[in-house]
Amino acid sequence: MSTRGNVLKALEENKGATVSGEELASRLNVSRAAVWKAIQELRKEGYRIDAITNKGYCLAQDSDMLSAEGILPYVTEYFTADRIHVFKTVESTNLTAKKMALDGAPAGTVVIAEEQTKGRGRMGRSFYSPPDGGIYMSFILKPRFDVAKSVLITTAASVAVCKAIEKVTGISCRIKWVNDVYLGDKKICGILTEAVTDFESGQIDYIVCGIGINYSTAFPEELSGIAGSLFEETPGDSSSGQSTVAEYSGEGISRNRLIAEVINQVLSISENLESKEFIEEYKIRSFVLGKEILVIPTIGHNMERNLTEGIPASAVDIDGDGGLVVRYRDGSIGTLNSGEISIRTVK
Ligand code: BTN
Repeated sequence: MSTRGNVLKALEENKGATVSGEELASRLNVSRAAVWKAIQELRKEGYRIDAITNKGYCLAQDSDMLSAEGILPYVTEYFTADRIHVFKTVESTNLTAKKMALDGAPAGTVVIAEEQTKGRGRMGRSFYSPPDGGIYMSFILKPRFDVAKSVLITTAASVAVCKAIEKVTGISCRIKWVNDVYLGDKKICGILTEAVTDFESGQIDYIVCGIGINYSTAFPEELSGIAGSLFEETPGDSSSGQSTVAEYSGEGISRNRLIAEVINQVLSISENLESKEFIEEYKIRSFVLGKEILVIPTIGHNMERNLTEGIPASAVDIDGDGGLVVRYRDGSIGTLNSGEISIRTVK
């Protein structure tokens, strides 16, 4: 790691506290001038670092710029810096991750961006991905299990996101089948899983699992009715005088911290996909089960019924493959599989 990277890591590990230039220099085995140069570089990039006379350098407690160095202090030990790739702007982290997988990036690689210019959602939709306040991240995963079960990654990822949010912020989120994460009646996270297939064999080589979390995203009016954020404003910014959920948590919260916990949870759950424990965790967090719903046919499905407004049904269960078991009005039971339909809760 460069001196800049090492200095940033040390400051991130001591966010809000002072670290002396001398200590940094000796810890990193470089001159104090090299430390000063790195501090200048970081300030130019936008980091707010105070120099306090006779004490040293202090990275602002509410600094929230995304970086591998800011994420690393919180990820499990075996996860290394070379697996985290942070970009300012990309079209889509899923697209970047796919390209990296084809270029030989190993499983477990994570691509993160401050902004996406063409964020992708499910079913050809776009995903609103402005800078400052969003989390856009994609995992490259190598399925070590039956490829048919790979769809479970998406189900597992929604549980992983809920667990990470709970652990870091204390906020309990719920899941709307298939994999949208909600806070109250607003969607705060969407997940898009895509396969990287070997052209010759048709085999799935890699799975790219993309997660978009609205951390403190401000939405335009046309989206604000359905999309929400974890925080109304950036934690630590009390200038508006509004209270934030962050104030209720004792622990320091930042996007880097939450990203790290999502990494920990996704990697842990994806290692244990076959144990199915997460299906139970999914059910506990589902807000669809037991509800009256409308099954919305996608183009090409249920066309014989000529229904455009949805088929009334009750959501009964989640099966072992993450499918939603429903009971239709005529008493018949059906299982809905990922990607086939959308669900709307009946008000
Ligand atoms: C949905 O809600 O329809 C799924 C949204 C998935 C968004 C994430 S953000 C990171 C990754 N990159 C993308 O382009 N999409 C996913």
